[in-house]
Amino acid sequence: MMTKFGSVFIQLASVDSTNNYAANLIQQGCCQDGSVIMADYQTMGRGQRGNSWQSVSAANLMFSIAFQPKYPLEEQIRLAWYSAIIWQQCLLRFGLSTQIKWPNDIYVQGSKIGGILIEQQLKGSQLEWSILGCGINVNDAPELQQATSILAQTGRQFKPQTVLTEYLDLLNAQQQILNGDFLKLKALFEECMGFRNQLLRFEKKDGLIFEGKILGVNVQGELQVEVDGKPVSFGNQEIRFLFPSA
Ligand code: BTN
Repeated sequence: MMTKFGSVFIQLASVDSTNNYAANLIQQGCCQDGSVIMADYQTMGRGQRGNSWQSVSAANLMFSIAFQPKYPLEEQIRLAWYSAIIWQQCLLRFGLSTQIKWPNDIYVQGSKIGGILIEQQLKGSQLEWSILGCGINVNDAPELQQATSILAQTGRQFKPQTVLTEYLDLLNAQQQILNGDFLKLKALFEECMGFRNQLLRFEKKDGLIFEGKILGVNVQGELQVEVDGKPVSFGNQEIRFLFPSA
């Protein structure tokens, strides 16, 4: 059974967060698998690690997809990998070569062009719903650290909706990658990962700074870094990259 991404399309002028809107639909029991909620503006847009996500009205793409996973809870990382792979393909259609900065940031030429926020809903020990929230800078790059946009990179303006249509097409067309061989999906994600094979500086939660080389991810989705010649794994909240590297 396949999901039709975009089976229901809800377009809002303004909302607190499209992820919240999707969560409310699910809670009310009236959400269809594959529903897309897009907003011109968010009053309380959320990013990863408790950050906020801000965007000028109608300039950029902000949407969430409510999706019923067809794989077990232990493989919940599939959606993060798949959505990132599809972003790389999608932005290539707009002439951009992107890298994924683990876990889920989309980078072009060393600058962030977008991000992904996935929220999971469980029923008992089953993965019942995933909410895939994406924010892509189409025509405006927030002046915050190292952000860029499709416009800044290509000199061309696009409607956010145009980018979304391409993304949904690609998401729908390649579901065999999402639901198929787990290690193949992992390998495809690792190919999308940037900043590999170079010495980078990382900061651990306790403030310790160290150098290492990104190797890839493990089956839990943790970052694997070669530190002092040995592979070490780190969870999402455990480390952050320090830019620029020395
Ligand atoms: C990040 O880079 O930290 C992730 C950003 C995710 C932002 C999107 S915008 C649409 C959806 N609704 C939200 O509140 N957040 C996501």
